[in-house]
Amino acid sequence: MLPEGYTFRPAEKTDFAEYVATLSVLTTVGNVSAAEFELLIDTWARNPTIYFPRVIADENNKVVATGMIVVESKLVHGCGKVGHIEDIAVAENQRGKKLGFYLINELSKIGKAEGCYKVILDCSEHNVEFYEKCGFNSFGSCMSIRYD
Ligand code: ACO
Repeated sequence: MLPEGYTFRPAEKTDFAEYVATLSVLTTVGNVSAAEFELLIDTWARNPTIYFPRVIADENNKVVATGMIVVESKLVHGCGKVGHIEDIAVAENQRGKKLGFYLINELSKIGKAEGCYKVILDCSEHNVEFYEKCGFNSFGSCMSIRYD
């Protein structure tokens, strides 16, 4: 359960400042303007069965946690779907309140409700225990090639 006054909801255009500030604890957000953020929200909204950007907001409706599940339609597993959990971040002064746990559970439920046969994510070694507590198991290796 969320702490009293907190809500789990889709990301909105007016979330710009807090969304960027919250996600910046995870990685470089870059010099994104409010207008670019609004275009991105529009892009996500045009593809509502693929992108599920979600936030947890506090009692003042300010974003304190971000997350996303992207639902990929595949050929394998009989045209199955795989959910990818991305961009999980809880504001530093809000950690330890089970917000991360709630967020992961809700995103996983969206994946299940959308018909995904599995939900997967990549994370750093130091977050493995957190995701295990959310019900995930380690499987295979995470690899990347970077162009930035
Ligand atoms: N290592 C081990 N255990 C952890 C960790 C961790 N890094 N983080 C939380 N836990 C434990 C908690 O102690 C708690 O355990 P309990 O149920 O036994 O009491 C349980 O996991 C749930 O913790 P929450 O309170 O829900 O975690 P929180 O809200 O603080 O969020 C998070 C955890 C998301 C990892 C947060 O610390 C964060 O935002 N970190 C920086 C950004 C980041 O690394 N995000 C993940 C990127 S991976 C991705 O996006 C797919």
